[in-house]
Amino acid sequence: MRTQHYHPAAKALHWLVAVLLCAVVPLGFLQKLVKEDVYAYVNFWHLSLGFTLFLVMLARLGVRLLTKTPGSPAGTPPWASRLAAWNHWLLYAALICEPILGYLTTNAQGYPLVWFDVIPIWSPFGKSPAADTILAVHLYLAWVIVGLVLLHICGVLYHRLIRRDDSLARMT
Ligand code: HEM
Ligand code: HEM
Repeated sequence: MRTQHYHPAAKALHWLVAVLLCAVVPLGFLQKLVKEDVYAYVNFWHLSLGFTLFLVMLARLGVRLLTKTPGSPAGTPPWASRLAAWNHWLLYAALICEPILGYLTTNAQGYPLVWFDVIPIWSPFGKSPAADTILAVHLYLAWVIVGLVLLHICGVLYHRLIRRDDSLARMT
């Protein structure tokens, strides 16, 4: 049977998000570990690439809603299709909410985001004691994202090694 592919824009944005996430998550954790002189540098890239990821996710959601997606590969058990659908939609939700929480943290900390030190992003409120709470949720959601991505990669391996279907080819 002919492989049904995702839309080229969906493919491009999928891999762009994967690359961005591989930078943004380690940079997020690194902020707490590095010395003060390196912190500003790590923080700059975490915030700016994180906000870029947010914009790419919005574009991706638009593409997802406007284009056709291939259903599960033929023969996929219903439980696996349902798990994949949940995994995909939770990734969309988490990857849109997480940068918003990060952005709200910067506002509450009193350092509103200036994207790549060039474009100031409107800030809805000033310094606030809620900063620590928002940051804590930002941290928990980061772990949820790591878990969802690991589950996603288990799904890719399941299709590739156990079912030996064309799932990966549809996204490449
Ligand atoms: C998907 C995107 C993002 C992920 C997965 C992510 C993940 C993380 C992680 C894991 C931490 C470490 C938290 C801790 O150890 O307490 C962190 C810290 C932080 N993130 Fe993000 N982040 C993302 C996007 C953003 C964005 C877009 C912003 C702001 C515009 C942002 C602002 C911050 C701030 C201010 C901190 C605390 C820095 C500090 O400890 O001084 N994040 N992020
Ligand atoms: C690292 C971050 C990643 C994220 C956030 C992510 C997210 C997603 C999402 C949300 C979808 C659903 C697409 C849609 O319905 O619009 C998807 C599909 C897919 N992803 Fe990923 N992905 C990541 C990494 C990877 C990696 C590393 C691989 C391969 C090794 C991969 C392979 C695939 C495949 C094959 C599909 C299509 C599944 C199908 O419908 O058959 N992804 N991904």
